[in-house]
Amino acid sequence: MNFHNCWLKKRSFPYPSTVREAAEAELSNLGVPFKIYINGNGDGFTISKNGNEYQISGGETGALYAAFRLGVLLNNKTDFTQINEAPSYENRIINHWDNFNGNIERGYSGKSLFFDDNEIDYDENRMRHYARMLASVGLNAVAINNVNVSLPAVKLITGEKLPRLAKLAEIFKPYGVRLILSINYASPVMLGELDTADPCDPRVADWWKKRFDIIYSYIPNLLGVLVKADSENQPGPFSYGRDHADGANLFAKALAPHGGYVFWRCFVYNCKQNWRDTKTDRPKFPYDNFMPLDGRFDENVVLQIKNGPYDFQIREPVSPLLGAMKQTTQAVEFQIAQEYTGQQIDLCFLPTLWREVLDTGFKVKHIAAVTNTGNDFNWTGNYLAAANLYGYGRLAWDSSLSPESIAAEWCGLMFEDADARAAVKKMLLDSREIYENYTTPLGMGWFVTPHTHYGPDPLGYEFSLWGTYHRADREAVGIDRSSRGTGYTRQYPPEVAAVYDNIDTCPEELLLFFHRVAYNHVLKNGKTLIQYLYDSHFKGAEGAERLLKAWEALEGRVPGEIYKNVLERLHKQVKNAYEWRDVFNTFFYRLTGESDGLGRLIYK
Ligand code: GCU
Repeated sequence: MNFHNCWLKKRSFPYPSTVREAAEAELSNLGVPFKIYINGNGDGFTISKNGNEYQISGGETGALYAAFRLGVLLNNKTDFTQINEAPSYENRIINHWDNFNGNIERGYSGKSLFFDDNEIDYDENRMRHYARMLASVGLNAVAINNVNVSLPAVKLITGEKLPRLAKLAEIFKPYGVRLILSINYASPVMLGELDTADPCDPRVADWWKKRFDIIYSYIPNLLGVLVKADSENQPGPFSYGRDHADGANLFAKALAPHGGYVFWRCFVYNCKQNWRDTKTDRPKFPYDNFMPLDGRFDENVVLQIKNGPYDFQIREPVSPLLGAMKQTTQAVEFQIAQEYTGQQIDLCFLPTLWREVLDTGFKVKHIAAVTNTGNDFNWTGNYLAAANLYGYGRLAWDSSLSPESIAAEWCGLMFEDADARAAVKKMLLDSREIYENYTTPLGMGWFVTPHTHYGPDPLGYEFSLWGTYHRADREAVGIDRSSRGTGYTRQYPPEVAAVYDNIDTCPEELLLFFHRVAYNHVLKNGKTLIQYLYDSHFKGAEGAERLLKAWEALEGRVPGEIYKNVLERLHKQVKNAYEWRDVFNTFFYRLTGESDGLGRLIYK
């Protein structure tokens, strides 16, 4: 099976055994004269052009990243004499949500690359390609298993499974990619070795110390572990009356002698909320839980925080926790997998969204994202979804890049035809707004079908346990999260809170996240809220049709296999957009009795 279709040019291996060899092989592959000067061991690099020779200097991984960079520059015919680059984040991580049985939680491109039928099962050749592909965009760490770790995946950290993982770590190593393991907080109990996982019990601390000694004897360059504790029914320190600092430090202390990190997720909230309770507000949980603990975390704890306070909706404000803990190391967590953003059927170029998040200016040391890759022959199911993986890698490397430049670069690598490059770039750049328009505009979120998270279901989450409510009634929709409402806005610095607090200064695209708004409220464009909602859905559905037309015009200009793959998905996207438009509009029409001002069809 051909699984090598991505932005990288094909090349024949011998597979390199060191990073330096990998860098040399990649440079040789470019067919231009070059010299490498290794100095230090950082990821940064300089490429200088001297006559027709390219001089690369940097650490070994730096030289490797330089080689890939040069490939892009040559491909896109970029003129330069010298380029200096260093990554924006120290660790640039992807998280696989792969289950031990081979399924992927929120996976839309086949099955796991690492597991099958409760065994570690990977194709070594494919793993080499994967490592190379990740390194080509500067990614340097991979968590291979789902954050929800159940039995038998708990056993990944035992001697029975570690040899196969060690081999995988070795395969990734020449490309500078390090492994992370997701672990279950209560492993010693689940493996039947202790009757407690109390972080303050010395037996538990000793158990983890010994466990990490064993793990590191197999995988000496393991970057660390990822833990989802006290979140969505996963065990954690709360069961023992302890807090997240106690829990995270337990691992940190056991990992410290090996130089490992514990990536501790902050996706913590009450997942058994009562919809009748209008005081409890889910987005407040991460900040309320973690902010008071600032200063208590060990140095090698990294708090991994989702970009928004909810859960990867198409539009959320930035999490107030990001950058707020001055004495704690943090990572921002994005989601490349399109769980709520079209499931790799609908086109949704996520660098547009990530750019806005990064533009809020918080500083963190590490970056992570739930990946969209699986064992589909082209890695991401939809060929165009690969632009999101590429874009994530590029932003993790250089957080100042624009979505335009990322899209142009990726299209330049994927397509030969200049018109196709321009057309796909436009499709990518338009796609996020289109998706937002036909799903949940104005920061509303959660109109999605429960569990599957594809397609509309206006009341699907409205009376659930998950704390995900829009509370639409005949007069108004949205939650008042201002300081007069749930008080969520108070988690931001006062000057930011003041902007969000006021319905007139709140960015309109987040209006229904922050405020409860009457349908006759007049928006900046002079239209009432209800009219805006209708307009947005008609516009979104037209946008989806436009994407399809733009793609149809490329028949014969892009490789047939790619054409067919994307066409099939765009047809489904248009259908999905119609469904969203009609369900959404009818839902609000029935509530309000307001007709569309432009007389378009809204089903009664
Ligand atoms: C979302 C997603 C879950 C996932 C969770 C997480 O809620 O739907 O499948 O486990 O996020 O980030 O842990």
